[in-house]
Amino acid sequence: MNYSGLLNTYSRYPVEFVSGNGPFLYDVNGKEYIDFLCGIAVTGFGHNHPAIKSEVLKQINNFWHVSNLFTSTPQEELAKKLAERSGLNYTFFSNSGTEANEAAIKFARKWGKGRFEIIATENGFHGRTFGSLSATGQPKFWEGYEPLVPGFSHVKFGSIVAIHEKITPNTVAIIVETIQGEGGVNVAPEGYIKALRELCTEKEILLIIDEVQTGIGRTGKFFSYQYENIVPDIVTTAKGIANGLPLGVTICSKEVADEIKPGNHGSTFGGNPVAIAAANKVVDLLDEDQLKEIAQLGTTLQDALHGLNLQQIKNIRGKGLIIGVEFTEGISSKEIALKLLENGFLVGTSGDSVLRILPPFIITQTELMKFLSTFRAIVQEISIK
Ligand SMILES: Cc1ncc(COP(=O)(O)O)c(C=O)c1O
Repeated sequence: MNYSGLLNTYSRYPVEFVSGNGPFLYDVNGKEYIDFLCGIAVTGFGHNHPAIKSEVLKQINNFWHVSNLFTSTPQEELAKKLAERSGLNYTFFSNSGTEANEAAIKFARKWGKGRFEIIATENGFHGRTFGSLSATGQPKFWEGYEPLVPGFSHVKFGSIVAIHEKITPNTVAIIVETIQGEGGVNVAPEGYIKALRELCTEKEILLIIDEVQTGIGRTGKFFSYQYENIVPDIVTTAKGIANGLPLGVTICSKEVADEIKPGNHGSTFGGNPVAIAAANKVVDLLDEDQLKEIAQLGTTLQDALHGLNLQQIKNIRGKGLIIGVEFTEGISSKEIALKLLENGFLVGTSGDSVLRILPPFIITQTELMKFLSTFRAIVQEISIK
């Protein structure tokens, strides 16, 4: 390994960006790229968005940090907007998705008054710190770190029966994604989330929905559980909320929030004023028209991908602007991502065979068409094994 000074936690692409504008990024050599990755579902409004930047700069010119020991009107404004958009009541701000889930796990246990078991799903991803890692249903992420936090179990994603069978008198919550982003862009079967809501209500268990990746408009609804017309007891989100500044969000029902008192949880940086300024603007920008546009762009892109009729593709799935393309056996999604990068497009992967396409909400038909023709040319060159 060449010494870079960085701990070797990422195998990085050999490209360095120096600037960005809208859906475009520019590397050190001035080469232009179109961003279909969005910093892993983060920069939904693209790079350098003028309205978001203006709010951020205004806050930077005032102050960057004073701590959560003092009243913050912008935090309260954002919390009220999030309550309105989620159907829930009270928000805790942190800095990342994993922290948002840690808070959810702690709040659930506090509410449970001794009940501590949490049921999660196989292939789910909830983060890298110990609570959320223990909720994560992918053993490859546990390797070398066990023992995990006790009380977590994992059942087949999409199966209500499997959850039913795991419930014990100690069960306090179920944590689930509506679309397993890291796990392969696996969309929950229709009715699953609604059935979970009913089951949780019946058994007096909390339903925690992890919308770290799917929330904040990515699927064409503000929160993706809104496709099933339900409200969970806790929702977590992060990635897209501040368009690239670090912010984690845990929104709870009044019943859960009633159990939380000063000192029960906290974060020095959580709800940082600059990130909150960006988030207040992001939430305002995500009006009904913008959400419809995201859903429409997603349908256009999925239809166009189907229309390519490529034998190398096994399955296309997703909702709105989170789309997974699964290739037939032997085709490496990493290799395709690398070829797309060489040709000026950033995309993500989910495991060895799934390409994760996460365009910004401001993408236009022109860029979609450019992507599709490059993608087709690259995939057509790959022979089927
Ligand atoms: C569904 C989900 N939950 C939690 C996380 C963890 O978020 P973070 O990397 O901000 O800690 C991720 C990150 O990919 C995610 O997709």
